[in-house]
Amino acid sequence: MTYLANPARYDQTGSRPMEFRRCGNSGLQLPAISLGLWHNFGGVDVFENYRAILQTAFDNGVTHFDLANNYGPPPGSAEENFGVIMKKDFIPYRDELVISTKAGYLMWPGPYGDWGSKKYLVSSLDQSLKRMGLDYVDIFYHHRPDPNTPLEETMAALDLIVRQGKALYVGISNYQAEEAEKAIAILNRLGTPCLIHQPKYSMFERWVEGGLLDVLGREGVGCIPFSPLAQGLLTDKYLKGIPSDSRASKAHGFLQTSQVTPEVIVKLEKLNAIALERGQSLAQMALAWLLKDARVTSVLIGASRVSQLLDSLDCLKNKNFSQEELTKIEEILK
Ligand SMILES: NC(=O)c1ccc[n+]([C@@H]2O[C@H](COP(=O)([O-])OP(=O)(O)OC[C@H]3O[C@@H](n4cnc5c(N)ncnc54)[C@H](OP(=O)(O)O)[C@@H]3O)[C@@H](O)[C@H]2O)c1
Repeated sequence: MTYLANPARYDQTGSRPMEFRRCGNSGLQLPAISLGLWHNFGGVDVFENYRAILQTAFDNGVTHFDLANNYGPPPGSAEENFGVIMKKDFIPYRDELVISTKAGYLMWPGPYGDWGSKKYLVSSLDQSLKRMGLDYVDIFYHHRPDPNTPLEETMAALDLIVRQGKALYVGISNYQAEEAEKAIAILNRLGTPCLIHQPKYSMFERWVEGGLLDVLGREGVGCIPFSPLAQGLLTDKYLKGIPSDSRASKAHGFLQTSQVTPEVIVKLEKLNAIALERGQSLAQMALAWLLKDARVTSVLIGASRVSQLLDSLDCLKNKNFSQEELTKIEEILK
């Protein structure tokens, strides 16, 4: 069946109006909720399920899809599958989409398929473009810092990629505050400003509050937290044990059963009670809690089914926290 996007996808008077937030000091706005294809879109997953997730996302104003060379499993398959859906469904909407990919983790054997050399980044993006059937990506990231490649070389590779027209903007991911500051300065000097930083950030993972957010705010660089639900922990799904279809129970899932500890469950129960008082699901509260900071441009969620995506999108219905709620949440997270 031919896909026709929901004509009301940008309607601000509908039941799920999407909010768009400016990415740092740039001209680009991102949806408050973006969708990542790390899990659930690979060769091991079900085509009609992930196709429905992508269509539902776009139908609700999620204009940003985030990929990386190695997403799958197997590595590369998420980009290939996204390429198939691009061709089937999204080609007429290409100019309404912000598509990102990354390189920085192991992708192919030998010295040129990992880390941060110009050799790796340029060839990896060429491969990604082929897999997705795209002429360019909107954002290309260096996926993690490389201690053995000069930062100047890695940043020069990002600058080159933009000048070649293969990416419109560049970003960095998993860089600590100090190295992010250096990377941002180099990119400014080269004339290709850093658009965005993608760090791990959630109620359970708050390292960015120790300096990185200040750097990004000061430098006018956007921030898109990944794993904002701590891979599904910050939902109500693990409150009564580990469901057999959850990420924690999948062999290829990155969430380990050992992370679902009794201490974590106690915290989740308390957080869930606050969420219910607010009239939200725990997932919605966890996402809203990140979006209350104006330096956070968008939260980068994952979803294994359409219902989860719709649940998460509804976080936008209540982003306000009273001081009392914030204090209670701090007490629990301590
Ligand atoms: N830059 C990096 O180094 C890096 C690293 C990791 C991720 N990322 C990016 O961030 C994206 C998101 O990461 P993530 O998938 O870990 O994000 P997440 O939103 O923290 O976790 C997503 C998982 O949580 C569960 N879930 C989601 N919504 C739910 C809901 N409303 N109710 C109940 N369960 C729900 C699902 O797991 P089940 O399978 O259990 O249903 C889903 O697959 C990735 O796709 C990728 O684009 C980037």
